Amino acid sequence: MCGIVGYIGSNQAAPVLLDGLSKLEYRGYDSAGIAVRDGGSATEIIKEKGKLRVLAEMTDNGKAVKGTCGIGHTRWATHGEPSAVNAHPHSSDDGNVIAVHNGIIENFQEQREKLIKKGYSFKSQTDTEVAVKLIDYYYKKYSQLPVEAIARAMVRIRGSYALCVMFKDYPDQIFCARKDSPMIIGIQNGESYVASDVPAILKYTRNVYYIGNMEIAKLERGNVTFYNIDSEEIEKPLTEIKWDAESAEKGGYEHFMLKEIFEQPKVIRDTINSVVNNGTVHFSEVQLTDEEMQDINQVYIVACGSAYHVGVAVQYVIEELTSLQVRVELASEFRYRKMTLNPKSLVIVISQSGETADTLAALREAKDQGIKTLGIVNVVGSSIAREADNVFYTLAGPEISVATTKAYSCQLVAGYLLALQFAKARNEIDDEKYQALLEDINTIPEKVDRILEDRERVQWYASKLINVSDSFFIGRGIDYAIGMEGSLKLKEISYIHSEAYAAGELKHGPISLIEEGTIVIAVVTQDALTEKTISNMVEVKSRGAKLMAVTTTGKYFLEDTAEFTCYVPKINPLFAGSLAVIPLQLLSYYVSIGKGFDVDKPRNLAKSVTVE
Ligand code: AGP
Repeated sequence: MCGIVGYIGSNQAAPVLLDGLSKLEYRGYDSAGIAVRDGGSATEIIKEKGKLRVLAEMTDNGKAVKGTCGIGHTRWATHGEPSAVNAHPHSSDDGNVIAVHNGIIENFQEQREKLIKKGYSFKSQTDTEVAVKLIDYYYKKYSQLPVEAIARAMVRIRGSYALCVMFKDYPDQIFCARKDSPMIIGIQNGESYVASDVPAILKYTRNVYYIGNMEIAKLERGNVTFYNIDSEEIEKPLTEIKWDAESAEKGGYEHFMLKEIFEQPKVIRDTINSVVNNGTVHFSEVQLTDEEMQDINQVYIVACGSAYHVGVAVQYVIEELTSLQVRVELASEFRYRKMTLNPKSLVIVISQSGETADTLAALREAKDQGIKTLGIVNVVGSSIAREADNVFYTLAGPEISVATTKAYSCQLVAGYLLALQFAKARNEIDDEKYQALLEDINTIPEKVDRILEDRERVQWYASKLINVSDSFFIGRGIDYAIGMEGSLKLKEISYIHSEAYAAGELKHGPISLIEEGTIVIAVVTQDALTEKTISNMVEVKSRGAKLMAVTTTGKYFLEDTAEFTCYVPKINPLFAGSLAVIPLQLLSYYVSIGKGFDVDKPRNLAKSVTVE
């Protein structure tokens, strides 16, 4: 929800902090701030409401702030409205403790009242200021040792946090603490870095540590020491990041979203190739054996947002290819339901970031019930990747735009391959069908490429939706799942109200909303359901709706009903969703930029929802 960075080394800190924060703005961008110090000098704190460029202008891109040790923050407001007062870093009144924080402290009110009784006062409405003053309290009350003061505060705090803390008495160190919120620590040639996510430090180092939950780290120039909650030193392995810095940049595209839409053929191919060779799916990396797949009789797919939409689509594919019972659940609901899970089940959690709080909580709930878990995750070393029993990594590379596209498409393909392998392991399809389906899946990348070549038509139609206020997406079966994703794309980046309905559901109420000029986008790729969906299209057209259809080449009769028809190449209907979603991604992108919105950083959103 927010982005944090820290640096200590021989270079000026402020430019490094601002550069790191610019790679994390997708995590939140309503205010930003930095705290920088040079040796024993007083720490300078500069923070302001608004996007990072406001801070960069205030500090002449960091050049006006001297010091080789500092922390920084870009905010997505949770407690307290976006303002300079609520912006991070937060400090104890005497400057003894200064910190930035990503996460939510759930019991901050209770701790705030206790601290007020101990003589503390508060300037901001944030939970972070409470954490800072709690650490300050323990530091002064006990041993004046940063690690112990932080550990004592961690024991009292409930919630999630990635904290970077500076202490006045320790000018050449930065302290970090983590629980549930993402944090990565890097070192390189006498420099040390900490950030919420890899892109912030990739330019400086590939050598990183993954700090675990309830762990503390002490950063010095080129050296990191880790501690457990008992303040005992612990060893951590140094890992090398495989990403290239280029893939975390725009690469000549105007927006990350467009770049990531166009990366889809390649990253879908990479994801397929990560588990397929010589015409067979190999789950040795995923570590899910055929025997385990034979022994499972229930699959739960649990996720949020677009990842949930992947689950809805993959449910149809698994049901078509196997006898498995499949349930798809919203993680934010799953985690609170009193649901007794089938002991012989597999819980599949899908998450691009691997840090979504609701999805992580659902994973933990499944594990608490002793259920086998599998994560379909894009970020290596993320919390979900580390806590799931098995991981199927999508190879989408860093996805910066808040609106997911390439990661969504890679998750879909991962789901197809899982369904296929389940069917084969359980002898529910023969080799001939297995090979045919695998060949179909292998055609997806080049078919996506062909759709992207034809994007001008979608761009033209998007210009007609600029002033639309309401839209409906309809479809049946897998088309319904794709409609869900198209609807979310449109609403989250163009702010046009949109709803996705199972086409057969319209007559049970929603059709009353259809009036002259209402935009209805029909997804029609499922051959067996085409006639039914056309009937629904005719029903809404007769009430004044303007129809766009996304369908497979050959269904030219749809032009009798739709004012605009977008064709995608023919493919096995089970996998048509991977193609039909592309025009819908492009449509929402072009509508958003047509309205002049910041397509990569839409209002009120953040890339990774690491709070409830
Ligand atoms: C998708 O465009 C949204 N940004 C959002 O719905 C996202 O899919 C959801 O928050 C889940 O994120 P995750 O995949 O990182 O868990």
